[in-house]
Amino acid sequence: MPDVKTENAGNSNGANRRNFVKAAGAATAAAAMLPRARSTPLVRTAKAAGKQVTYGFIGPGSRGGRLLERHLRRIDVGHCAAICDIYEPNLQKAINLFDGKPTPYTDYRKLLENKDIEAVFITTPLYMHYPIMVDALEAGKHVFCEKSLVFTPAEVVGLRELHAQRPNQVIQVGLQRRYSSFYRTAKEMIEKGVIGKITHIQAQWHRNKSWRRGVKDPAREDQINWRLYRKYSGGLCAELMSHQVDVADWMIGSAPKSVMGVGGIDYWKDGRDIYDNIQLIFEYPEGEKLQYSSIMTNRHIQGRRTPGDGCREVILGTDGAIEITLIPGGEGMWFRDPMSEKMGDQKEAQQTWVAGATVADMVGQGEGLPIIPGAQDLSSGDVGFIEKEVQFAKRWLYNKGIMVPEEDKDPEYKELESFLIDVRDGGTPKSDIEVGLNDSIAVMLANHCMDEERKVYFSEIDQMGRDGVNLSLGGAPKSA
Ligand SMILES: NC(=O)c1ccc[n+]([C@@H]2O[C@H](COP(=O)([O-])OP(=O)(O)OC[C@H]3O[C@@H](n4cnc5c(N)ncnc54)[C@H](O)[C@@H]3O)[C@@H](O)[C@H]2O)c1
Repeated sequence: MPDVKTENAGNSNGANRRNFVKAAGAATAAAAMLPRARSTPLVRTAKAAGKQVTYGFIGPGSRGGRLLERHLRRIDVGHCAAICDIYEPNLQKAINLFDGKPTPYTDYRKLLENKDIEAVFITTPLYMHYPIMVDALEAGKHVFCEKSLVFTPAEVVGLRELHAQRPNQVIQVGLQRRYSSFYRTAKEMIEKGVIGKITHIQAQWHRNKSWRRGVKDPAREDQINWRLYRKYSGGLCAELMSHQVDVADWMIGSAPKSVMGVGGIDYWKDGRDIYDNIQLIFEYPEGEKLQYSSIMTNRHIQGRRTPGDGCREVILGTDGAIEITLIPGGEGMWFRDPMSEKMGDQKEAQQTWVAGATVADMVGQGEGLPIIPGAQDLSSGDVGFIEKEVQFAKRWLYNKGIMVPEEDKDPEYKELESFLIDVRDGGTPKSDIEVGLNDSIAVMLANHCMDEERKVYFSEIDQMGRDGVNLSLGGAPKSA
């Protein structure tokens, strides 16, 4: 499975979005928080099919450098005209990827003055997303911004307001799982009722490392290790959990209504003020729960011989489960588990499973079926057998109207190409502004509930936005 995780080392359809909690949507922002209105014409300049979109890139550090090097260089829908970074080595490295052709900038505002530039990619640290996005949108640019989209409740309000003033400018957030065929298959299975009603999701992203980057010049500590400090970062919630809470929102079809949890700085006591382990429970409108864990001291995944990146989502429904594990190569398993009250149906369904294959046995034994390739390390070690079962599972799903595609392109490549095509043709991203804002709200409130040691409701974000509450300064973690 191509890499959808990439936290350094996934159809947001209209109906789902409409269901999303509009926690901060109706907010009338305090005038002081609103971005300044300017009279840049709201036109799409790259509409003609086949025309390349001219873009600028802001902040080519670890993430940005990867997106440029692995993907954008190869995507001909766009043309990189300018790159900006305040850190000379990163700027130079990125410029070199394009044989020195893009114009280098160290001040992003100068880049935004370039009228040829129609769109910008923003991959700066989290605390700089919003100021750059506001300036870019006001300069008439379309914006792709890495997750998490915004940092403070006031920014949720401000970005919604600005987008409402400029609806023709594309805003996309870098939540690439929404562009993964595998995650989309899981979504389709859920929509077709294959696993019944989702009641719970369990997700984890466990690592065994400090996250600390080496710093030669101590004066650069904050700049290099920004993700360890609350002034700049949302910690594990922003950097890892954001991807998985977005998967949960997408699969459930709603944003959460509350969150509670416990976090601490219990192992990496090295001056950081973000939590080094977090345990959270999100509650969704119909009582669904997302149970979430992220730790930095062990990356074991239950039932796995190789821990990989310690990242997994298990979606539990009344008739089965889907498990997506980002071991190297990636894997998706489907476990059928019809509710005992539905055994009559199950018998019927069971007949469609009998095809002389061992599938019925596997299902009976609860072993699960691989729906996503990359299953080479399954316990039998018999790849031929597994391939046969994958084919069987695919045929069964196909008969239910579910296409199980191959992951034709890397989801990161697809999210970037898709953004440029949306800019050119006027489309709406799968990871659009509402997806991004709901995701950011979850990040902020998850940290907040741990800080305050209480259950926090998503409806609170509205007032916080109006009051200009800065949650990142909300107090050091209790165990610090
Ligand atoms: N979608 C994903 O899977 C994924 C993976 C990793 C990181 N990210 C996100 O990407 C963003 C960047 O993370 P990173 O690890 O690359 O950080 P980084 O520190 O490696 O890179 C950030 C870059 O931005 C530059 N920068 C900072 N302020 C700037 C400014 N005012 N103008 C221009 N450039 C500026 C820095 O010099 C640096 O080169 C974060 O929001 C992070 O959450 C997303």
